[in-house]
Amino acid sequence: NLPMVVTGAASGIGAATCRLLTESGHRLIGVDRTVATSFPGTFIQADLATPEGARTAAARVHDAAPEGISGLANIAGVPGTAPWRTVLGVNVVGLREITRTLMPLITESGVIINLSSVVADGWQRNIDALRQFALADDPEAALDTIASGEEAIDDSYRFSKECVRLLTEHFAAEGLPRRIRVNSVSPGPVATPILDDFKRDHGADKVEGAGELLGRFGESEDIARVLVFLTRDEARWVNGTDLRVDGGLTAYRNTRTN
Ligand code: NAI
Repeated sequence: NLPMVVTGAASGIGAATCRLLTESGHRLIGVDRTVATSFPGTFIQADLATPEGARTAAARVHDAAPEGISGLANIAGVPGTAPWRTVLGVNVVGLREITRTLMPLITESGVIINLSSVVADGWQRNIDALRQFALADDPEAALDTIASGEEAIDDSYRFSKECVRLLTEHFAAEGLPRRIRVNSVSPGPVATPILDDFKRDHGADKVEGAGELLGRFGESEDIARVLVFLTRDEARWVNGTDLRVDGGLTAYRNTRTN
């Protein structure tokens, strides 16, 4: 029973995922910038906004689990109301670095799950820009080459979650020889502390309208259940893909605009 690493473990979707994984008998290593109170496993406080921070966190995971880990759930993230460098730093650079550093520690047939978003559904339209940034040899240096007026700054959250889709495919291809499955999950609006930031970012009316249409907002557990499913043998042939978990919101919006 090797431990599973969960980033963003202190709040919202990450905390709900940790609760469900514990209930189904998993050992856990939680990573977050904020200390999680009464965490059900080993907890590592770390800032994943930079490659060094992510590497430090990974080194501490190595120390806590020298025998290996069963997988990695990259759930830590910041909303688009944060400065664009922080958005790209946490949601892309830190995610990529901790994944790269921990991948050798993941057992054969292990899993990686990333958190994207429904806002990234059109990611393939943007593939060249995403490749240039998310796959750059030095992503921190790549941050310096982004010019003002570019989408990566103006719509940094969407750009970051599009990068997550690209990285998911990239790591899935890399994981094939060791049968490591890599997928992403894309929630619509979920009632967590981030939701207020989404209201500021996308307009309160639009977000409230989604809640009215669906009868409620998503709850952290709605997303966490799908994350747990993806770790299981039931999902053994699901690899390199994204699972939208938005209660039907995108389908509704597509039928309005098409
Ligand atoms: P949350 O704010 O409750 O949890 C995010 C966690 O990430 C927090 O515990 C926070 O401390 C941690 N974190 C942020 N920056 C960090 C850093 N530099 N280093 C380490 N940890 C850091 O938000 P929620 O909603 O649970 O978000 C989880 C993921 O789901 C995020 O990636 C978010 O972008 C994504 N998501 C959320 C949606 C929503 O409506 N809540 C919709 C679509 C995607």
